[in-house]
Amino acid sequence: MSALLPKDSKGCPYLLLAPMEGVGDRCFRIAMASIGGFDEAVTDFLRVPSNAHVESLAKRFEANETKPIPIAVQLMGSDPELMAAMAVQMEKRGAHRIDLNCGCPSNTVTGRGAGSSLLKDPSFLYENAKAMVKAVKTPVTIKMRSGYTDTSLFKENLLAAEESGASYITLHPRTKLDGYGPPAKWDLIAQAKSIVKIPVVGNGDILNVDDALNMLRQTSCDALMIGRGSVINPFIFHQIRAYFHGREYRPAWKDLVNFFAVFRQQMSEDIPVRIQVNKLKQLMSFLFKGNEALLAKRQEILSSQLKTPQEFLDFAFPLLQEGWLTNPVNSL
Ligand SMILES: Cc1cc2nc3c(=O)[nH]c(=O)nc-3n(C[C@H](O)[C@H](O)[C@H](O)COP(=O)(O)O)c2cc1C
Repeated sequence: MSALLPKDSKGCPYLLLAPMEGVGDRCFRIAMASIGGFDEAVTDFLRVPSNAHVESLAKRFEANETKPIPIAVQLMGSDPELMAAMAVQMEKRGAHRIDLNCGCPSNTVTGRGAGSSLLKDPSFLYENAKAMVKAVKTPVTIKMRSGYTDTSLFKENLLAAEESGASYITLHPRTKLDGYGPPAKWDLIAQAKSIVKIPVVGNGDILNVDDALNMLRQTSCDALMIGRGSVINPFIFHQIRAYFHGREYRPAWKDLVNFFAVFRQQMSEDIPVRIQVNKLKQLMSFLFKGNEALLAKRQEILSSQLKTPQEFLDFAFPLLQEGWLTNPVNSL
């Protein structure tokens, strides 16, 4: 068992909240921490452009953000020297772990050779990761897809990650070309386990407890990372843990209300009201997606034209409550 990815006393694997730029922002992470159930959070990617002033950029990371749950920082860039300098700053700011993004499919990112572009050249991936590993004592990890356009360099990329000294790899088994479309290929997680000796965290398409158990069984991965499944059902981590503890976890309506209250409180007053409404709408539409009783009402949420966060919540909460009470255990 990896010291960085310990199972709990009942054998529940280490559970990580995935980075999700735009959806899993600071407000979401703090709201998720108020529910709890997971072992570690990670920031969405912090871009390290070629003209980065690392000290100023580092101020965006707050090591206490999800306290008492530890938080890692994810860096995205492709200049080994700058990535190393940035890692040093992150260590100074108390990052629990420093992750290298080798997965972002966005063209604006890949155009500059970062994110999933690193998967086109295992030696370049190695150089970036190695520079970070050498610069800090804090564990450096790598989050990667299975390839850029195909999986021809899958093995080479995994070995490059391992040889760089990275503490573990999180694998989202889709190529950059796949985007988020076809189902994640969990067999690649099983393959990765047979290729590298360092731990492999399994990620992709875990939407409920059964998915989590199936991924563990099918891949023998060392830990689980969940992204969209946690927006659809913020209680998913508690439900997985409860399974291992031989009990049932029934989320209470008041916990969901509190989740929204924390989320809303975290939205800075500097954020324009229109954007606040859109953020609430996005969160609510994920929740509606995971609950059969709510699915039919999702379009009403998406097309609503309400102007303030309060107006939107006054409209959406009764719909949410009605569906929630019919089927409170989202996605199960
Ligand atoms: C909206 C969104 C934003 C994402 N942003 C990031 C990111 O900043 N860094 C990263 O490594 N992966 C990012 N991902 C990928 C997720 O971390 C995860 O690997 C992927 O969604 C598959 O896991 P899931 O099925 O549990 O969501 C993002 C995914 C989504 C849907």
